[in-house]
Amino acid sequence: MELFTKTLFLCAALALTLAAPAPPQDAAAEDVDHSLPNRCDGIEFDAVTPDEKGITFFFKGPYLWKGFHGPAQLSNESFKELDDLHHIGHVDAAFRMHDPDNTDDHDHIYFFLDDKVFSYYNHSLEDGYPKEIQEDFPGVPSHLDAAVECPKGECGDDSVLFFKGHDVHVYDITTKTVKTKSWPHLPVCTSAFRWLEHYYCFHGHNFTRFNPLSGEVSALYPKDARDYFMRCPNFGHGGDYQVIKCKDVKLDAITADDSGKTYFFAGPIYMRLDTSRDGLHAFPITRTWKELTTSVDAVFSYSDKMYMITGDHVYIYKGGVHYTLIDGYPKSLKEELGIEGHVDAAFVCPNEHTVHIIQGQKLLDVDLTATPRTTTQETNLPLSDIDAGFCGPQGIAVFKGSEYYKYQSAMLLASSRIAPKPHIITSEMMGCED
Ligand SMILES: *[C@@H]1O[C@H](CO)[C@@H](O)[C@H](O)[C@H]1NC(C)=O
Ligand SMILES: *[C@@H]1O[C@H](CO)[C@@H](O)[C@H](O)[C@H]1NC(C)=O
Ligand SMILES: *[C@@H]1O[C@H](CO)[C@@H](O)[C@H](O)[C@H]1NC(C)=O
Repeated sequence: MELFTKTLFLCAALALTLAAPAPPQDAAAEDVDHSLPNRCDGIEFDAVTPDEKGITFFFKGPYLWKGFHGPAQLSNESFKELDDLHHIGHVDAAFRMHDPDNTDDHDHIYFFLDDKVFSYYNHSLEDGYPKEIQEDFPGVPSHLDAAVECPKGECGDDSVLFFKGHDVHVYDITTKTVKTKSWPHLPVCTSAFRWLEHYYCFHGHNFTRFNPLSGEVSALYPKDARDYFMRCPNFGHGGDYQVIKCKDVKLDAITADDSGKTYFFAGPIYMRLDTSRDGLHAFPITRTWKELTTSVDAVFSYSDKMYMITGDHVYIYKGGVHYTLIDGYPKSLKEELGIEGHVDAAFVCPNEHTVHIIQGQKLLDVDLTATPRTTTQETNLPLSDIDAGFCGPQGIAVFKGSEYYKYQSAMLLASSRIAPKPHIITSEMMGCED
């Protein structure tokens, strides 16, 4: 929740791809220049890494691809010193450093070429680089195959996993020590990538997800990278989305759960805002809430549950690693919340037990501790046609089209007689295009 309010109220710099379903004729749209390699042909990448903005770079020979769609370009246009040194023409491995206690290297991209390491921030080479790999990473071998960040919580401590053959060198960033493991069951990774808390080893045009502590792999892998990590005609489900303009944004709902996972919903898609370090990405709602096959009207989080309102039904999901629909749901709005009619927006403020429901120009407060649920207050708002509402530690935001209004508390919202000046949704907030 804190992260979202930072995004919402301070506008941290994030990457962008708010997507909406594309018309079928656009689904295969990818600029094809035949002098450049096409990643839809099936490329074995040399390295895959995000940058400090959450944009993912895929490297092959002297080329790179920026993000999950778009054509190849020369790497030296983005990272110009990479081929200065000895014209190697490719990178062996790359990763983004996760070292939040050390601003000198946090979010820097490290590239490994033969026995050298390059550190970039904001696409500029840092002073003193390139260096010998062992100068920066004692105990880590040269001529690596792959590298990936592994933050504390996912690995024991903030670490980097370096791959060479079947060996994995686990480098502890704080103690600068290396433990070497062997994961012979994992294919030899030519690149490795951490994305949305998961770890991927790329080999050939396939990838295999692995556990960063044990190296364990599930039987579902390998999978073809073209179905997941790039937009290719005739491949995968990532193919049918296109970026939309910020001025065309229309949210259905926005909420943050107790663990800080923050979501917005628009039509058939949702996007998580708290993982913006890995870029903002849209997914079909049914990917996470299987039973919700329509768009939502309003969503709010209370205790460890997510209440999702669509038409006159409420679906309640229990949070955790996965969201699971609670037995007996969906139920009617009347039965669950004691209200009837179309709901435009709903939100609960942190540590409160009242859901604030917006229906047209009415704001209803419903006591979530009462059985049956009862409306404790009803007021008129100076706003109408609200799409979504959110309440965080820094107050309330109500969304209407591509704009939103801020209030310090539900009481101020309920007692306001004129609408405050609206703010506009930016690409940094929601991944749309300015
Ligand atoms: C980048 O690399 C290409 C091909 O390797 C070369 O022709 C070009 O001059 C390089 N550009 C820069 C800016 O170094
Ligand atoms: C990043 O680089 C750009 C252009 O090279 C520059 O304008 C900008 O100020 C830099 N930003 C930071 C945070 O260093
Ligand atoms: C990629 O994975 C598929 C299984 O999903 C497998 O049949 C195929 O042989 C693999 N190809 C390569 C080049 O590893």
